[in-house]
Amino acid sequence: MSFLRSASPLRPPRHDLYLGIHKGIRAFMCETLRRVGSMDSDDDAELAETLAGVSLLLDFCRAHLEHENAVIHPALEAVRRGAAQPASQDHAEHETSLSIIAAQVNLIGESRGCTRARAALRLYRLLAIFIGENFLHMHMEETDHNDALWFAYTDAELVALEHRIHAMIPPAEMALALRWMIPAMTPAERLEVIGPLDDLRPHLDARALAKLERGLRRAA
Ligand SMILES: [Fe+2]
Repeated sequence: MSFLRSASPLRPPRHDLYLGIHKGIRAFMCETLRRVGSMDSDDDAELAETLAGVSLLLDFCRAHLEHENAVIHPALEAVRRGAAQPASQDHAEHETSLSIIAAQVNLIGESRGCTRARAALRLYRLLAIFIGENFLHMHMEETDHNDALWFAYTDAELVALEHRIHAMIPPAEMALALRWMIPAMTPAERLEVIGPLDDLRPHLDARALAKLERGLRRAA
């Protein structure tokens, strides 16, 4: 509840390192939780597919906190010593939670019948707690961290930090991030990400453009 009361008033728009990725993570988490909650643990194919989705989310969360630790936390510590401390502590706890949830995923895979159903319910509850904790954590980053970052850095410097994070992300992880981020964004936010790519079209000749369109149609 205190988080709700501390929600900040609207600020003048500044470059927000967290906005898109956190919207994507929230959507990914909610959808995964819904799938685990409605999973038929007696259906082997559904179980395998759902648990693979959970593992994908866990790997994604681990990579996300590593990116924040590597790039954003040093930038915060440079503003004020200890500024990244609460989030670093949360991240250490999240890593433990990720291991606990991963162990629960393995346990379900190895169990049968009602033991499996009970293990699946426990996974649902563990995941719900983890997601709840992450929602509050992300709010803290979007308010406290952004306050510090916006005070100390220009938007161009924040964009440079974001590019450093992008350079750390392998293509498969980037594709997964965009798969959740883009649908979770407002049309204006989406345009900001995709628009610059569309601006490159005039630089392609007719043949390259036709191949691009064909490829996009196939991928859709
Ligand atoms: Fe974080």
